[in-house]
Amino acid sequence: MDGRITVVEGDITSQDTDAIVNAANTTLLGGGGVDGAIHRAAGPELLAECRTLGGAQTGEAKVTRGHRLPARYVIHTPGPVWHGGRSNEAELLASCYRNSFALAQDVGARTIAFPTISTGIYRYPIEQATAIAVREARRALAAELVQKVRFVCFSHRDAEVYRRELATRPR
Ligand code: APR
Repeated sequence: MDGRITVVEGDITSQDTDAIVNAANTTLLGGGGVDGAIHRAAGPELLAECRTLGGAQTGEAKVTRGHRLPARYVIHTPGPVWHGGRSNEAELLASCYRNSFALAQDVGARTIAFPTISTGIYRYPIEQATAIAVREARRALAAELVQKVRFVCFSHRDAEVYRRELATRPR
């Protein structure tokens, strides 16, 4: 199962999976971090398409084309801001992954790359976020929603957290 989950250290904008996931905000109109990197690499047509989406709630996911990116699709999902863990953050983050996988299946994207959603500006603790990401990836693969999942970490530290989580048996 986990052979179909890989961890890479790098830039999500250079991933050649069918879809890449954007850690967006609820406006879906760009921002800093990975959101800014994706919009810069995809070009202005991405923002033009995003303007037609009408934003998204935290945990929702909406899809656009990849424009100048190698990936055919971008799946935009606003993750939760971390407020200490008692504001339903875990469920909302799980929804980001579940809705991204569901959309990937809808558009026929068989391979998908995720950044570490919510763990930057939104301050979600990386260990807790990684446990959710890996659990949801295992479920999506078991349900054959996608064929391969790639976790793209921007730091060695984050990649090590993912590798440790993947080394543990499903809970
Ligand atoms: N490729 C992969 N990962 C990246 C890249 C990149 N090019 N750039 C940043 N990252 C990493 C960050 O280092 C962090 O580990 O993505 C992770 C998510 O961080 P953020 O981009 O800050 O996303 P998030 O914490 O979900 O905050 C979302 O930030 O950019 C704004 O518009 C966005 O308001 C939203 C908020």
